[in-house]
Amino acid sequence: PLVLHVLGARPNFVKAAPVVRALGELGVRQGIIHTGQHYDALMSDVFFADLGLPEPVANLGVGSGTHAKQTAALLVGLEEVVLEHAPDLVVVYGDVNSTLAAILVCAKLGVRTAHVEAGLRSFDRGMPEEVNRIVTDSLSDLLFATSPDALSHLAAEGVPASKVHLVGNPMIDSLFAALPSLDPAPVVARLGAPERYAVATLHRPANVDSPEAAAELVSAVLEVSRQIPLIVPIHPRGRTRLAEAGLVDGPSVQVVDPLGYVDFLSLVRGAALVVTDSGGVQEETTMLGVPCLTVRPNTERPVTITHGTNRLVTPALLPAAAEKALADGASTPSGELPPLWDGAAGPRIARVISAWLKGDNLSP
Ligand code: UD1
Ligand code: UDP
Repeated sequence: PLVLHVLGARPNFVKAAPVVRALGELGVRQGIIHTGQHYDALMSDVFFADLGLPEPVANLGVGSGTHAKQTAALLVGLEEVVLEHAPDLVVVYGDVNSTLAAILVCAKLGVRTAHVEAGLRSFDRGMPEEVNRIVTDSLSDLLFATSPDALSHLAAEGVPASKVHLVGNPMIDSLFAALPSLDPAPVVARLGAPERYAVATLHRPANVDSPEAAAELVSAVLEVSRQIPLIVPIHPRGRTRLAEAGLVDGPSVQVVDPLGYVDFLSLVRGAALVVTDSGGVQEETTMLGVPCLTVRPNTERPVTITHGTNRLVTPALLPAAAEKALADGASTPSGELPPLWDGAAGPRIARVISAWLKGDNLSP
């Protein structure tokens, strides 16, 4: 049997690496299809190197565009490559457009699918990711959940429990694997950053796509930089708009290119505070015990609040929340980490997939 993993965007690579490794250890034949949704070396190649991912068997080179154009290119490219390789199972990750397109293509071709990171819900359909999550979960044959809240969301949407497996979080497997290499000193030295600093990453369309939202966000972020020097590895989506709104190098702000996985997590590990709107970064700060302020009205990752260091803030409340977080340090309400975020999610997923491929068919 053949398993294909469809990957396209930065967070996909981080989630897939432990699954690919664990399936390899079980001797499962597999290949990676890179859709090319992300294509800059710092958004893609560096992750293959840092995470030890094998070369893709195909790169579809779909690139950027409107949702319709990008999704259309993904559908056409993925249909061809799935027909050519005739996989027994296609594994998709997270909530990006590459995930959505792969699930649609496979559903129409009658190819079985597995979704890693199933059941997360922000209950905000204004987010493109929420639409992708709902459609992907409704069409998947095997659903791998990272946290218990996902199980109730899937049950409420009518997904049979027999398809769903609570396995923990493969993004955290990648973090555990990288942990021995996470040293803030070299990256801090290379960037010429001070010893005490905060990190900000911002790329959600609701925060960076309109000049009004960008202006409000940047003024709040600049206020934080008056409390602590701020390093901002900038996602290409927000680069122009945030710069136009005034997020540029200054005495206390350093805007840098996106960082590789090991460099970025090293910087986060040494940070006094992280300000973000990323999904994955909410989870990683929880595990690293670094205070995290998420500039969003909601999160699909509530365990990072109940079992982690994460707080939701509006731009208006960000400066005061930063002041408090810098004074208090990290605190987690439950005092416990999220269940099964133990570095062994990849092997759990691989065991289910391998049994499923052997005909111990776990889906109805
Ligand atoms: C995508 C995901 C988002 C995820 C993010 C991770 C969707 C709908 N969104 O958002 O959920 O959090 O990836 O990083 O799938 N660009 C480059 N170089 C690249 C890639 C993108 O310059 O290598 C620029 C292009 O101008 C492009 C813009 O970034 O138009 C947005 O890229 P896109 O892949 O459409 O969405 P992201 O905002 O990256
Ligand atoms: N990340 C990185 N370099 C950066 C910013 C983020 O390596 O400059 C990593 C981060 O540690 C996490 C992943 O990229 O593993 C998250 O991706 P992103 O924030 O782009 O997407 P989201 O999680 O919001 O979908």
